[in-house]
Amino acid sequence: MEKVSENVLKTSVPGIGNVYFNLQKYSTTISEEHQYIYYFDAEGKFMGGFFNGISYRRGLDNRMMKKFFDEDKFKVKVFVDENEKRKIINEVIERVERIKKFTHQNYEITGRLEDILRWDYDALQKDAIKFFSIYKPISILPPDQYLSLVLQPAEGCSWNKCTFCSFYQDRRFRIKSPDEFKEHIKKVKEFFGRAIGLRKSIFLGDANALIIPQKLLIELLKILHEEFPISKRNPNFEFSFDGIYSFLDIFGAEKKKPQEYVELKNLQVKRIYIGLETGDPELFKYLNKPGSPNECVDVVETIKKAGINVGIIVLAGAGGDKFYEPHVKNTIETILKMPLSKGDIIYLSPLVLDEANEYVKLMREIGARTLNKFEIAEQIDRIKEGLKNLTQYGVKVTIYDIQEFIY
Ligand SMILES: C[S@@+](CC[C@H](N)C(=O)[O-])C[C@H]1O[C@@H](n2cnc3c(N)ncnc32)[C@H](O)[C@@H]1O
Ligand code: SF4
Repeated sequence: MEKVSENVLKTSVPGIGNVYFNLQKYSTTISEEHQYIYYFDAEGKFMGGFFNGISYRRGLDNRMMKKFFDEDKFKVKVFVDENEKRKIINEVIERVERIKKFTHQNYEITGRLEDILRWDYDALQKDAIKFFSIYKPISILPPDQYLSLVLQPAEGCSWNKCTFCSFYQDRRFRIKSPDEFKEHIKKVKEFFGRAIGLRKSIFLGDANALIIPQKLLIELLKILHEEFPISKRNPNFEFSFDGIYSFLDIFGAEKKKPQEYVELKNLQVKRIYIGLETGDPELFKYLNKPGSPNECVDVVETIKKAGINVGIIVLAGAGGDKFYEPHVKNTIETILKMPLSKGDIIYLSPLVLDEANEYVKLMREIGARTLNKFEIAEQIDRIKEGLKNLTQYGVKVTIYDIQEFIY
């Protein structure tokens, strides 16, 4: 076994070739001649890999997504079917079994490989059942929160009527009581085990958790602080989270008083994500979002004054060809009215159509043609161009691809 760098060891396995082990505190990555790469969490559960030019990601719900580039260099993301998933997991287990035969002289690697071998296809299937006994489906997160620890003090969306959004139509909005939330946290801790250390932050689900009435919300956040070290070290834990994050809709955001945001800031709420979707008031009505673009500017001002960052989400392609220009122009203008600074993010989310959605029907009625992938890419570039000055203040403008999400 050869030490390549601080955490990387290398060995040769007959029939495979050189194998590298990247041993991180909360993850293990195995790389065979840098051709086959696969990684696992601290419990040994397969998280993803890269084989033959295709990258795979397994979610905690045990779905698996694969990503590759199409002939136009656009990224394709699809969930694999059960057969393909079984094939991938069996393949990984077979490789790890082979590698383990030639690494017995290293206790740390052997220990990690033994953990991995415990999580074969059947064990991972069972783990998904456990996951759904703790969580409602985690439908979407902002891209910078994919590695967060999701907790669900609330389930669903308190509005649930935007014409383009199907994320939470499978559940009723519900807020957990403090006791229920404590029980939820206990089960989440058991589920993650040591792998919890890989999580960077805490994300409060689902669609607008911060709409929970302030008194109860504060109580729930205090429970969180009793259970986890957030933005501080605690000698009882080997890890700490960098803060608390959540979605909030414009209407929910408006209902809070400035002082209430200060309370949230003091309890380590770091960034609030709000879907503006468009700055065009007419298109906004077709989307049936609560609030309005101007109200969104007002709430961003209030949130920023309290010292909390924002993530603003824009729906690229919304309104099709009919709204192409006003969507671009008014979205840029609306965002430029916001007092944004370092730590804020503008997300551009390419519209994904669901034929069952009211939005599709409404656009048909007004004769708006859906933009194709090239036109959406062009619109994203136009909006980015209009916002380019923001980047000099440390504001990030980036893509939010809902099709890429897996938790
Ligand atoms: C959970 S939602 C938004 C958070 C909050 N509930 C709100 O409405 O402000 C997250 C984001 O997903 C995006 N989204 C929802 N449905 C979409 C779709 N069909 N295609 C693309 N993006 C979508 C929207 O931009 C939305 O703001
Ligand atoms: S966009 Fe937000 S407010 Fe609208 S239905 Fe979806 S989750 Fe709810």
